[in-house]
Amino acid sequence: MWETLFGINKIDNNSLKAVTVSGTPLLVANLNGSIYVTDLYCTHEQTDLSEGFIEKCNVICPAHFASFNIKTGHVVSGPEDESSPIGNLKSYPTKIEKGMVMVELP
Ligand code: FES
Repeated sequence: MWETLFGINKIDNNSLKAVTVSGTPLLVANLNGSIYVTDLYCTHEQTDLSEGFIEKCNVICPAHFASFNIKTGHVVSGPEDESSPIGNLKSYPTKIEKGMVMVELP
């Protein structure tokens, strides 16, 4: 079901924002004007990824620097000093309608 998040003007280019919709914590990323939505928390130790940073098209976790592809949620590289694999973030369909960012939750 499609949920309305906020106005597209509420998120700067190349920035991250945390939002909770219907009890689901989400990470919204504006990557060069395109909006992507994934889970908010790192799959390693549940750090809030909105406090991380964007590098190319990846979000870097501020805790141990795991890196996830913002477009797909897939792990690009795992946490520093950790050999066990970590899971991907879920990625959610998004659209902009009448200037509002919308996300489709299962
Ligand atoms: S909590 Fe994100 S890399 Fe460890």
